[in-house]
Amino acid sequence: MILHLMSSSKQATWGGRFSELPSEKMIAFGESISFDARLAPFDVQCSKAHSAMLAHVGILTPEERDSIHTGLDQVMKKIEVGEFEWKTELEDVHMNIEQALLDITPAAAKLHTARSRNDQIATDIQLYLKSASLDLIQGLKACASKLLDHAANHLEDAAPSYTHLQRAQPITIAHYCLAWVEMLWRDIEEFQAAHERANVCPLGSGALAGTTLKIDREFSAKQLGFTDNQGNPIVSSNSLDTVASRDSLLKFAFACAQTAIHFSRLSEDWILWASAEFNFINLPDAYTTGSSLMPQKRNPDALELTRGKSARIQGNLTTLLTLLKAQPLTYNRDLQEDKPPVFDSHDQLLQIVDLFADLLGKIDFNLERLEEAALDPMLFATDVADFLVEKGMPFRDSHHVVGKLVAKAEETGISINELDVEVTSQISPLLDEKFREVFKFKRSIERRNATGMPNPNRNKAQIDGWRSKLEKLN
Ligand code: ARG
Repeated sequence: MILHLMSSSKQATWGGRFSELPSEKMIAFGESISFDARLAPFDVQCSKAHSAMLAHVGILTPEERDSIHTGLDQVMKKIEVGEFEWKTELEDVHMNIEQALLDITPAAAKLHTARSRNDQIATDIQLYLKSASLDLIQGLKACASKLLDHAANHLEDAAPSYTHLQRAQPITIAHYCLAWVEMLWRDIEEFQAAHERANVCPLGSGALAGTTLKIDREFSAKQLGFTDNQGNPIVSSNSLDTVASRDSLLKFAFACAQTAIHFSRLSEDWILWASAEFNFINLPDAYTTGSSLMPQKRNPDALELTRGKSARIQGNLTTLLTLLKAQPLTYNRDLQEDKPPVFDSHDQLLQIVDLFADLLGKIDFNLERLEEAALDPMLFATDVADFLVEKGMPFRDSHHVVGKLVAKAEETGISINELDVEVTSQISPLLDEKFREVFKFKRSIERRNATGMPNPNRNKAQIDGWRSKLEKLN
């Protein structure tokens, strides 16, 4: 990006009433071009729609409109190839593009009719958020589908589950993977909601109170694709709210924060799982690094960085909330600071999602180790309590009985499922020889067969359900 500082030139867009140019310090302080230049494609799109609308209502001639459109295309081409000279004294993306257009066509002087940078930036942002939300949905779809592949490959393979990071009950790898798919699906829904919130056209709200000129806001909205399923235009309904609100940014930043939390928690699980202590998972070499000092090390950097970047993404949401909390209606220049945190959340999350879409396909589960941990007979203690419940014992009592059984196993050093019937029947007469059946993984997993449980047939049906849901995400 070519950045150029030229404080001597006249500030052409709002300089009329000023006797003195902004100081170099003010120019450097006030510019946003160093970060909002990325909105250029949306700004150009917005200006094209606006000029088309102005021609539609007779404020521009068709020739003026066409010369503006051709000029904007030329400007965009220059930007794309990196030959555009961004000028800091022109503050932002809007003024840079408009000034460049003025060098191409005099009609550009009419482009800002019935428009303010306040409704312009609001429109650019909505267009940007719609596009960013769709990109992230595609990335999340790819991640979810990799998790479904693992689930399908490991429908009946055992894994331990945890609460308090203590082994809890046996589950399957499939059920574990499907838990993450649930989370990613909710993330997709958050981005769909963010997309919907951004699908409202601000253009035509002017600085804050619209315009005295006869414009057609619905025409602009249609041009820009702010439409419902039937193709009807969606325009914002209060000009003050339109230029003051950044709720669509908030919604997007929250969607990023929630998604980042999910990837961070997954990373945390797998950092543990990849350690020698767990040894449940093998991470691909491509996503680990070595130590400069300890030759044996294989560090899970990609996962650790995901955990770290998620902190940044939470921070960005907080920045945005704090930015908004004390602003009087309507637009205040503070709002310019809304963009860096949101761009950062978008960029960081997109990197995370892209990385996982690849990494998820390259991990493998250490089935032996997972099974060994899952089939620890102690994990079937609740199954034994349920077994007693089926024989008519109240659960509070059966919990107590199994507690005694566990204590006996610990005391004698004999595995809970191998305790002599003489011993077990003393604890409860209902603990006859048949109680050993309970320790079979297949029995345990198949009996967990109501909605949301790890029964393999249920999981299989869920996988099919998820695949068709993902498929429909265009
Ligand atoms: N760069 C500005 C922003 O990002 C654009 C709007 C400027 N509006 C104004 N009244 N100064 O918020």
